[in-house]
Amino acid sequence: MSEMNYQISLPTRIRFGQNSLSALPQEASALGRRAFLLVDPFLKDSRLECAVVAGLAAAGVEARLWHDVVPNPRAATCDAAAADARNWRAEIIIAIWGGSTIDAAKAVSLVAANGGSAWDFTARADVKVLTPARRGFPIIAVPTNAGTGAEITPFAVLSNPDLKLKATIIHPFCYPDVALIDPDLHVSNPARLTASTGVDTFLHAFEGFIGTRPNTWSDLFSIRAMELVASNLPVACAEPANTDARTGMAEACYMAGVTLGNVGVGIPHALGQALGALKDTPHGESCAAFLVSTVRWTLPEAGERIARVARIFRPDLGRLPESEQAKALPGALADFFTSIGLSGGLEALGLTSGEVEPLVAIALANYGQDVACSRRPAAREDLYAIVRDSFKSG
Ligand SMILES: [Fe+2]
Repeated sequence: MSEMNYQISLPTRIRFGQNSLSALPQEASALGRRAFLLVDPFLKDSRLECAVVAGLAAAGVEARLWHDVVPNPRAATCDAAAADARNWRAEIIIAIWGGSTIDAAKAVSLVAANGGSAWDFTARADVKVLTPARRGFPIIAVPTNAGTGAEITPFAVLSNPDLKLKATIIHPFCYPDVALIDPDLHVSNPARLTASTGVDTFLHAFEGFIGTRPNTWSDLFSIRAMELVASNLPVACAEPANTDARTGMAEACYMAGVTLGNVGVGIPHALGQALGALKDTPHGESCAAFLVSTVRWTLPEAGERIARVARIFRPDLGRLPESEQAKALPGALADFFTSIGLSGGLEALGLTSGEVEPLVAIALANYGQDVACSRRPAAREDLYAIVRDSFKSG
């Protein structure tokens, strides 16, 4: 199919910019009078949480708080939250924190409306996926970091620790209704979290850009997001209170989310999600650990696009032939990771050589759709080679 045949979906309304959070009471009251709030336990009783609850009350919106959300959200926890939200007769869901909390809100909304377990709605190979018949509660997403882009995507990534698996609900009902993206909420994030989430944003823009499905429209978002990450992420890590850098990263995040939601991701995410399932490791770092090897492996099939990205990080490469520019990207990315403090690679995340086989098995079973987005078709042996090479490239 031509790159000129494509669909665009962006049903989430975005309110972007500093102090966007102040619009929450107005947005919430337009959608319902009983708000079920998923908030990370780190914010429990914080000034931010108290201000949000007071603001909602002033607008006539009663709030019920739920703090039992963890990174790599558990399907079983979402089921419990859905039961609570339904019993409390919630009318809307508000998620405040990172991608895990926002993804959990999507699952809670679906389960509260449709019953069943959140895990049964996730996409997995050779398993009949439960399709939700009803849209759930309206969702307002308030991200407190720049990373997953979950605030505007139709995906909810869930963990099942009992099975040591991760899988994703992929459905238009997962689109939040409103995303309030306020960079002021990002300035208190430490450098490590900023780096770990920021590379996820880069990967969403990059993997779609070199995948099988990019189009004119997604390219606009991908390229701009990558430019914003290259210029703002090192500054945001070094100077957490720099609001210009935080604003640039917040913008990059949702732009990369547009790419993610419309053209998907590729091998680094397939392997990174599998690593998260096995080791409960941070999402961004887990996916980034496979990036340099994946770029090297993909070079023969995507040289022109890889060269385009190389020039973002190294404008001085422009005088070289395109093939030389492309070959420089793996090194440029490794240098970039080092500059933001993420040079540990795969070994630092705890994977051993004996776990390569189960890792690839999970990637193929639960993230086959991402593997299929690779411009260079990848068989099981190819994934083994990429993982083995990732041990060396850390
Ligand atoms: Fe991601």
